[in-house]
Amino acid sequence: MKSLLFSRFLLLLPWVLIVIIVLDIDSSRAPLPALYPRGGSEGGSGGARPPAPRRRPEAVLPTIYAITPTYSRPVQKAELTRLANTFRQVSRLHWILVEDAAARSELVTRFVAGAGLPCTHLHVPTPRRYKRPGLPRATEQRNAGLAWLRQRHQHLPPPQPGVLFFADDDNTYSLELFQEMRTTRKVSVWPVGLVGGRRYERPVVENGKVVGWYTGWRADRPFAIDMAGFAVSLQVILSHPKAVFKRRGSQPGMQESDFLKQITTVEELEPKANNCTKVLVWHTRTEKVNLANEPKYHLDTVNIEV
Ligand code: UGA
Ligand code: MN
Repeated sequence: MKSLLFSRFLLLLPWVLIVIIVLDIDSSRAPLPALYPRGGSEGGSGGARPPAPRRRPEAVLPTIYAITPTYSRPVQKAELTRLANTFRQVSRLHWILVEDAAARSELVTRFVAGAGLPCTHLHVPTPRRYKRPGLPRATEQRNAGLAWLRQRHQHLPPPQPGVLFFADDDNTYSLELFQEMRTTRKVSVWPVGLVGGRRYERPVVENGKVVGWYTGWRADRPFAIDMAGFAVSLQVILSHPKAVFKRRGSQPGMQESDFLKQITTVEELEPKANNCTKVLVWHTRTEKVNLANEPKYHLDTVNIEV
């Protein structure tokens, strides 16, 4: 009797060992989430799976929508490349690229396809009569971006958290800027470098509130701030459906003020960048390229997109 039990035991032993090894490999490959520690003492339903782990906090980061007007010129692809290289490093950023053109260009279409970030590619031409020096630029393109954003969220109550900002294609943006604007509740503001004929312009902050503007140019503007100096929450954009950039009566340099007047007050502004004491964005402008030696007719043996 004893030897029968012993031989059964010997027969089963290898199988038991194999099962233990297999289980061990399996659990080391897919460790259970810390929320459900192994060998928990909740007895009973041994076969029931634990519920799926909660979504990680990153999943609810507000989306940053960047509206970029852009137009065809020799440096366009270089500007867009620089901008995409920045944007690609920012999580949950949706790029709204609006071409100043009657149709989507092949160059920008190809660029967007390879840009490696979520991008909506729109186009609208600036009417010829507005293409004059001294007139505001990119009015129609920014409005097209706003219209797309409003339409997209029209049927989605309640809106997902989001932040909008206007990112011209030639400026320089630090990654820290996106961390700052991400927490915008209504409208946030910060300094802009290399603008207004000074090294920087900035909102003047006292006790956490904007009380004035440090600027060298038209200090009488209600919001003496460049397009690169503010962000607006998606909620505010949706609750002011008529707020747009206006051509009628708008002077250059007044677009920002004319727009912000429609959605907020100076008292309401949220100062970012350490109470507006840090420059995180620069109003850089690209030099016009010298194409003096460019041949009139195509001379090269290949056609190259630049
Ligand atoms: C300043 C402000 O920073 C801009 O936000 C403002 O739109 C502009 O003045 C203005 O005068 O309206 P600035 O550097 O002088 O900027 O302007 P650009 O960088 O030449 O243009 C602003 C944006 O509009 C750029 O993204 C540019 O690609 C785009 N743009 C410009 C067009 O889409 N079409 C044009 O014909 C010109
Ligand atoms: Mn510019």
